[in-house]
Amino acid sequence: MSSPITYERERLLGYPQERFHIEQPVAPGTYLGPIDPSKPGADKIPLLFQPFQVKDLTLANRVVVAPMCMYSAKDGFMTNFHLAHLGSFAIHGAGLVIAEASAVEPRGRISPQDVGIWSDDHIHKLKEIADFIHSQGSKMGIQLAHAGRKASMDPPYSAPPKSEYWADDVVAPSGGEALKWDENFLAPRELSVEEIHQVIKAFGAAAVRATKAGLDTVEIHGAHGYLIHNFLSPVTNKRTDSYGGSLENRARFLLEVIKEVRENFPKEKPIFVRVSASDLVEDVIDGPSWDIEQTVKVAKWAKDAGVDVFHVSSGGNVAQQKINAFPGYQVPFAERVKKEVPGLYVAAVGIITSGQQAEEVLAQEKADLIAVARGFLRDPHFVLNAAKELNVKAKYSQQYERGRR
Ligand SMILES: Cc1cc2nc3c(=O)[nH]c(=O)nc-3n(C[C@H](O)[C@H](O)[C@H](O)COP(=O)(O)O)c2cc1C
Repeated sequence: MSSPITYERERLLGYPQERFHIEQPVAPGTYLGPIDPSKPGADKIPLLFQPFQVKDLTLANRVVVAPMCMYSAKDGFMTNFHLAHLGSFAIHGAGLVIAEASAVEPRGRISPQDVGIWSDDHIHKLKEIADFIHSQGSKMGIQLAHAGRKASMDPPYSAPPKSEYWADDVVAPSGGEALKWDENFLAPRELSVEEIHQVIKAFGAAAVRATKAGLDTVEIHGAHGYLIHNFLSPVTNKRTDSYGGSLENRARFLLEVIKEVRENFPKEKPIFVRVSASDLVEDVIDGPSWDIEQTVKVAKWAKDAGVDVFHVSSGGNVAQQKINAFPGYQVPFAERVKKEVPGLYVAAVGIITSGQQAEEVLAQEKADLIAVARGFLRDPHFVLNAAKELNVKAKYSQQYERGRR
């Protein structure tokens, strides 16, 4: 019997046997052939099930689990919940799993229960999850995030003590009561230029931690009204220095973040950037806002700065936004970027709910990858069901093969 001291040591380090895994010689979600060879088109591999390669990252298929905040962390630490949640998508054949918005500094969290990557202490659990996902033959990224003016809010399903919030340190390109998202949000404080440089460094330090955890890619979160989007949009950026005003100036923060992350992430690994292609307020508010024309220009600059994949979403920056959400509603934005920025890979997202719909987006060359969020919450088996729909026999994980029928 082990002594209490040995037991405590083992508990902290974990037992090596806990990391034993059954090999997956072929990654779940890999194309194995048609289910019914007599069906029309059965001789062709659907695009959704063709491997995708960018730099050293090779995916078994083109389905990406989009980042989804779970508000289930304490002090930024991922837990066994995240292992089970993200791990299940890997078991069930997702090509790439992108972990939720993870704050590069504590005040960059949306809520006190967001995941963080601001400390080396966060690497350990992240690596455990990445190792698990790799053991299943899938790949893992993480979204590097800063919530900007939407920080320090309540998580949806619990109420942490007031001491865990930071109401007086919610930061954005421009501050004041008039720049609250709405009455329920906090008034942001304007970042000084020195503070901007510190946040940029924090993105770079987070990229180093992602590398140490063995992640395959990082996604810079430039969408949904968080800090980078606050800088990009003239609705939320009222600065008069080199970080505000012209498009070049409003894009400076994003481009400097990209440069910092690129310098701190292995050059053979790709970088994703997620953007909102529009504030979706052109018809609602007077004056300039963020739109697809500016997105296309910034996408070109981002590509030149070393970005490999643009992940195109929309909205989230202005409370008056008019979102007309229907199946594939954001695909036209992805398509514009893909057509106008040759050489930049594009991921489409937003109410893509079936294999057929995803395949059409790829076949019409509107995107290179398909990201799905709520579809995976409804059905962690999304990829394997999409395969069935497309007459594809896709690999099941060894342990789950008997569930095929
Ligand atoms: C529970 C939940 C959490 C989300 N968290 C994030 C996030 O952390 N980062 C992000 O960029 N988008 C986030 N999103 C947006 C999704 O990634 C996705 O863009 C959106 O849900 C549209 O895709 P869908 O129709 O496939 O769900 C979240 C969505 C959901 C449903």
